[in-house]
Amino acid sequence: MALQSATINVMTAAARKAARGLLRDFGEVENLQVSKKGPGNFVTAADIKAEEVLREQLERARPAYSFLLEEAGHIEGSDKTHRWIVDPLDGTTNFLHGLPHFAISIALEREGQLVAGVVYDPVKDEMFWAEKGKGAFLYDRRLRVAARHDLQNCLVATGIPYTGRPGRDVFYRELQIVTDAVAGIRRSGAAALDLAYVAAGRYDAFWERDLNPWDIAAGIVLVREAGGIVGQIGGAAITLDAPSIVASSEALFDPIAKKLAQA
Ligand code: IPD
Ligand code: CA
Ligand code: CA
Repeated sequence: MALQSATINVMTAAARKAARGLLRDFGEVENLQVSKKGPGNFVTAADIKAEEVLREQLERARPAYSFLLEEAGHIEGSDKTHRWIVDPLDGTTNFLHGLPHFAISIALEREGQLVAGVVYDPVKDEMFWAEKGKGAFLYDRRLRVAARHDLQNCLVATGIPYTGRPGRDVFYRELQIVTDAVAGIRRSGAAALDLAYVAAGRYDAFWERDLNPWDIAAGIVLVREAGGIVGQIGGAAITLDAPSIVASSEALFDPIAKKLAQA
């Protein structure tokens, strides 16, 4: 049985509380799907509401900590050495279309280092969590990245840059190179879950460009603590504002990161 620290308890409790509202709103989206106006504004409101709940809960438990929130931005607390990095709803497009694949992502940074991460998928009720030096878990099951060494049998996840964003051409080249080398590609629409799934060995690897700190912070902790590597295309070390991310097992990291760099 994995013993959760007080920090992880705070994070999972906050995620659960925000998830209740998201689940209610997700049910409502299905009704709005058929209305002419569509669920767009409603989803934005659900997203903001979830973020407020997360902020409230985290602040109540750790009043001095700073925040980086997707919607509200930077909030400086009196303790500048600790920062929560929060995406209240990762997978907004899925949510908007009534597709049950989205998550809440919360990471904790201490003195510039990521030390804890929680990614919670409310629909599947899957709570992924990890703490630096203590391992990665799905509830109390220890997670390990997949053991596959041969690219040709690998299942690899990615994200497609949105229309109008730079990097589409290079993405199509990357996609072709990777597609030719592996067993299958998935684009699930929630980067935090893509990373959690790499940690859980469901995906062998994941790459994407132009993500934001809140998309990847918790997932980075999960992958590292599951024995995997997170870096950039080409192989450089990951940072929260890196232009790309690659995550996989140790064995696959170099082959994939270098293949992608050929694009
Ligand atoms: C998005 C998702 C998606 C990724 C996008 C992100 P959001 O986050 O993680 O998988 O491809 O680039 O922006 O907007 O749903 O929080
Ligand atoms: Ca996101
Ligand atoms: Ca989001």
